[in-house]
This record gives sequence, C-alpha cells and structure tokens, in this order.
Amino acid sequence: MIGVFDSGFGGLSILRELRRVLPQYDYLFLGDNARAPYGTRAMQTVYEFTLQAVRYLMSQGCPLVILACNTASAKALRTIQQRDLPQMDDPSRRVLGVIRPTVEAVGELTRSGHVGVFGTPGTVSSGSYDIEIGHLYDGRLTVTGHACPMWVPLVENRESDGPGADYFVKKDIDALMAVDPEIDAVILGCTHYPLLLSKIKRYMPDGVNVIEQGPIVAASLADYLRRHPEMDVRLSRGGTCRYLTTDTVDKFSELASVFTGEEVIATKVNL
Ligand code: DGL
Repeated sequence: MIGVFDSGFGGLSILRELRRVLPQYDYLFLGDNARAPYGTRAMQTVYEFTLQAVRYLMSQGCPLVILACNTASAKALRTIQQRDLPQMDDPSRRVLGVIRPTVEAVGELTRSGHVGVFGTPGTVSSGSYDIEIGHLYDGRLTVTGHACPMWVPLVENRESDGPGADYFVKKDIDALMAVDPEIDAVILGCTHYPLLLSKIKRYMPDGVNVIEQGPIVAASLADYLRRHPEMDVRLSRGGTCRYLTTDTVDKFSELASVFTGEEVIATKVNL
C-alpha cells in the first residue's frame, strides 16, 4: 500500500487527488487526530510523532509513505530520510513530502514573481519554503510567508463553514497582501487549507492564483513512480483505501465522509 500521513484531516485533500490520478494503487491513510494540530508544536515533537507514524504505516505494509503534511515535511522529513530510513530493517522503503513538489510547480504559476505562502506557525517559522524556493529559482522569486494559526483548529473542529472561518480567513489574507501587494500566487502550504477553499477564494483579491497542493503532489508521485519502477512493482494494485485515526472513529468517519464523498469506516490505532 501507499501510506499517506497527516496530523489530522488535512491529508485527505492530498489523498483525494492521489486516488483520482493514481486509482489503481491501494492506500492506507493515517490521521494523528488525537495529537493534532502539529503546527504549533516544537520541532522535536513533530519529528518524534511523524517518525512513529511512518514506522506504523511501514509495519502495516507500506513501502512508500507520503507525508501529506507540510509541518511534518518541514520539520521531520529530512531527518527521517537521511538518518532513520537507512537504519531500518528495510532501508529501501521511501518517505516523500509535499513541499518540494509544490516549490517545483510554483514557478509556472506566478507572473509577477511574488509568491505568498500560507502555513502553520511551524511551517512558516521553519523557513522551508523560502529556502527551497530560494535554491530552486536562484533568488528570482520573492516569497512572503504568513502563519494562520487558527485555520487548522477551525477545520479540525468542523467550523470551516462557520462565520468564525470568514473572520480569520479574511484577516489573514488581508495581512499577507498588505505585506506584498504584488503577490499573484499564494501557496496553500498546509494540507488542511483546501477545506477552507471556498472562503479563501471569496476573500482573495481577483487575479491571485490560489495554489492547492493535491494535484501537484499527485502529478509528482506519478512521475516518481515512472522514474522508480523498483518501487512501483512493490505497490499493490487493488484500488482500495483504508483509514486509520488515533482519535475516536466516529468523529473521524463523519468529517472524512463529507470530504471524500463516500462512506468512510475508520479504525482507531495507537502509535
Ligand atoms: N495539515 C498539516 C500541514 O500541512 C498540519 C496541520 C497541523 O497539524 O497543524 O501543515
């Protein structure tokens, strides 16, 4: 199976696109809802939680795990790839993140060269987007990050359609655009944020490209599997998807079903 991990519900926005573009594979989704949000947690904590999740998914038969979480990609991916994976009993398993593919895509999506990034406090303070965009585009793009600490709690608490969401989405968009009015592309650098998409589009100034990661990550994974047939042959092809959560299954199943558009039966696990 392909393992897909997020701190909570946000990774479903990535999973949905993976299943749309690559429907033939089997997926195992894990949401660490009991410990979400990760975005305000210390680096070491995010790393430890993410490593536990990766080990769990691998123990369940996932040779490939996607960190469908920017916070985990920013704070844990490199250490897991460079230090932990090589020491595991099967070092040929792989963990991929969501930041690199997004950065590779963004150059095509801005005309002004001014890019905004919305993310959790952890992702924004890590500077991961600034660093990766700086390297890849050699200083040709101007990046402005803005942390939206209320957006994930709104989603996790199923308030994304409520008036509180209007208030915080507008406030954060206004704050970002006030820093750099030339921004014409904004990365939703947190996988929870597409669940607020209708409100984000409502308050974003006209002409600003809102960049969702799901389609980008799915295209990038398809490309990865074409380039890595040794991984591709290890993946089972049954078109199934199973859901695991560290919190109560009822809460997870209810929101996940709304999001996936099909009945979700989740299983509770302890990491
Ligand atoms: N969805 C996650 C991300 O992409 C993390 C949200 C959180 O747990 O704070 O950053």
